[in-house]
Amino acid sequence: MKNPSQVSVYEVSLRDGLQNEKGVLPTESKRAILDALIAAGLKRIELTSFVSPKWVPQLADAEELAREVEVPDDVTLSALVPNAKGLERALGTGLPEIAVFMSASETHNRKNINKSIDRTLEVFDEVVPPALEGGLRVRAYVSTVWGCPYEGPIDPARAIEIAVRLIELGCYQVSLGDTIGVGNPRQTEDIVRRALDVLPPEKVALHMHDTRGTALANVVTALNMGIRDFDASVGGMGGCPYAPGASGNLATEDLVYLLEGMGYETGIDLDLLVEAGRVAERVVGRPLPGKVHQAGPFRVRA
Ligand code: HMG
Ligand code: MG
Repeated sequence: MKNPSQVSVYEVSLRDGLQNEKGVLPTESKRAILDALIAAGLKRIELTSFVSPKWVPQLADAEELAREVEVPDDVTLSALVPNAKGLERALGTGLPEIAVFMSASETHNRKNINKSIDRTLEVFDEVVPPALEGGLRVRAYVSTVWGCPYEGPIDPARAIEIAVRLIELGCYQVSLGDTIGVGNPRQTEDIVRRALDVLPPEKVALHMHDTRGTALANVVTALNMGIRDFDASVGGMGGCPYAPGASGNLATEDLVYLLEGMGYETGIDLDLLVEAGRVAERVVGRPLPGKVHQAGPFRVRA
């Protein structure tokens, strides 16, 4: 993205949000959220995960959901893929993009995908090149960059080394995750500087969970350093079931409210996005935590 006033929002509620809900939503309810997100102008949407249904039963309908959705040409759907089996499932649905994911923390990586970091990189050697050959775009995540629930602080140099490996493998962008929402702007400045020392800004995204209310402060820090790609989840749903303490993602409404107010362009209609949050809240059947979701956009009252 060349225009520095444009910011790309990558929506993760249908995946990161729903994987952390207690109940399993019917496929048609997921479609209702998707339609509302598309109506609001979201162009990059993570739809589901081709992970083990034993590990994440909430997303066991991945094939059914991905096969049956029809989206406008300018909307790109993606899905998490952990291994060759996941890739095979994704290829069977015709989705244009996948995302591989791993952690900068050895312990979280094992708890989440049941293998070491080194073994994960070997597995991705069998996933990313065939995915690219199959015509897919591949994104990547590195989790627990700001801190791990099992290991505590993580060496940022190690996290960026993994991010670079994933880009070298052919991923078009790597999203650095504050999986449990512990980061602060000073830390973000250090992590983003290290990333931008070795990668161009368009290859780096931020995936912040807002567990302790610091997500937007971290986003502003990264914006000021040239990052223009941010993940978010409508209503602030989300969390990794294998990272204790991981609560909601940065809410898409909060991100878009901040960005548009600061003069950035997102292409997203905030009123319709708030509507999408209401649809999500209705179908998950619990109040969602996003601030703008609760307060609504800024309006002068008559
Ligand atoms: P495993 O048990 O080690 O897998 O799980 P395995 O290779 O030993 O296979 C065991 C069984 O699982 C076999 O079936 C396989 O076929 C099946 P069986 O022979 O016993 O009947 N299997 C699969 N089935 C469907 N789809 C597959 C698949 N792979 C194997 N892809 C595995 C390893 C990676 C599969 C498992 O650990 C897993 O699914 N983990 C996913 C966990 C997850 O989704 N976590 C949340 C997403 S990450 C996140 O939230 C962080 C993020 O948001 C960024 C951030 O916040 O920082 C991205
Ligand atoms: Mg996440």
